[in-house]
Amino acid sequence: MKPNKILIGITGSIAAYKSAELISRLIKHGNEVEVIATQSALKFLGEATIEGLTGRPVNASLFERGNMMDHIRLARWADIFVIAPLSAQHLTSLARGEANDLLSATALAFERNKPFLIAPAMNVQMWSHPATQENVRLLKSYGATLIEPDEGLLACGEIGVGRMAEPEKIERHITNALRVAKNISVLITFGGTREVIDGVRAITNTSTGQTGAELADLFYESGFDVAAIAARSSVTPVNAPIVSQFETHADLNESLRERLRARPHQAVIHVAAVSDFSVEAIGVGEKTFSPSAEVKLSSDNRMVLQLKRNPKIVNLLKEYARDLKLKVIAFKLTKSANHQDREQASLKLLNSPGVDFVVHNDLSDSEQASHRREFTIYSKGQPPLAVKGTFDLAKILMSLIEGDSPRRQNEVQT
Ligand SMILES: Cc1cc2nc3c(=O)[nH]c(=O)nc-3n(C[C@H](O)[C@H](O)[C@H](O)COP(=O)(O)O)c2cc1C
Repeated sequence: MKPNKILIGITGSIAAYKSAELISRLIKHGNEVEVIATQSALKFLGEATIEGLTGRPVNASLFERGNMMDHIRLARWADIFVIAPLSAQHLTSLARGEANDLLSATALAFERNKPFLIAPAMNVQMWSHPATQENVRLLKSYGATLIEPDEGLLACGEIGVGRMAEPEKIERHITNALRVAKNISVLITFGGTREVIDGVRAITNTSTGQTGAELADLFYESGFDVAAIAARSSVTPVNAPIVSQFETHADLNESLRERLRARPHQAVIHVAAVSDFSVEAIGVGEKTFSPSAEVKLSSDNRMVLQLKRNPKIVNLLKEYARDLKLKVIAFKLTKSANHQDREQASLKLLNSPGVDFVVHNDLSDSEQASHRREFTIYSKGQPPLAVKGTFDLAKILMSLIEGDSPRRQNEVQT
């Protein structure tokens, strides 16, 4: 995955503080960022903050000795130009095609086949003024994508539309604008199953779905055609679409069977934490009940659960797809296991029917931030490969699905 080159413009608004978060998110997610700040913007957000975040000097002047052609250099360098926040003043200048400072000159020089996004921020009256609205219409007609301001309490104390969109939402717009679709379909399951005992009780597990949701987004952002199947209680991806939700082992099994039968997929990444057992019967005192969400069983008596073993879904996926070329990536979670136990558990799964790769992680490590989580990838006939962080894990899995050798890729990168 090549880093995206993102040019951020910042103008004079209190919302400029949110640009720091936007830049920080973009850098954290592996992008290169250059910033153009207007003189007014620098009254709201310090140069030190911007340079500290991007690792590059702030571009703020049209006439900078040694950098007189910055407006052309930056326009050609960037894959995308995002002005956030965009003041009423600069919204007007851009609509008029002015070029009297570095920001407006760069915007005018920016190729119109590349994405140009604007995230205005201003007082509600300024925003709703016919002059502003006419300028927005003009900019859209020139190819700009408007990231609508939100409604709420504005910095000036008034209430209405005018708050700059939140950094997370702006980042999502950037991701979508830069996404180049690939014709590779991947199903990703995540989250934990929940086996019903009665209307208020269930057997479940500690899976949050976090790793799977992050992988789904990383694959989606890299252009894969992602279909996520997530537990109802799971963390949700930011961009990747959830095509169905599951509660029980049976729901998940049925969703996968339907999807894999319906159309060809290149891979299934099966991160879901699936119960090995479902409830078969519940003994309460002398009586026996079937599991049902419609009743609440009495807790006055001893309760005995009879569990039945569930089939291993991961072993059935190639059969469902009727395609042996489908790549199946299974996940193995251990709990504070030593090296030998981890390896043994992962190899057992790798050697089970229909599994091509196994990603191991240990519960003791899963509370780590996503960039610190440790994974080991097991493939047949290859030594295990250790990876740190969900981002690097996604990169390796992508290369496995696309048929490249991850080792060769790693060698190239180092
Ligand atoms: C405290 C303060 C907050 C401001 N907030 C905004 C704002 O949110 N949106 C806006 O369009 N102008 C706002 N302004 C006015 C702009 O800063 C002003 O129009 C400035 O000339 C814009 O310059 P620039 O577009 O070159 O950055 C604010 C001014 C002050 C003093």
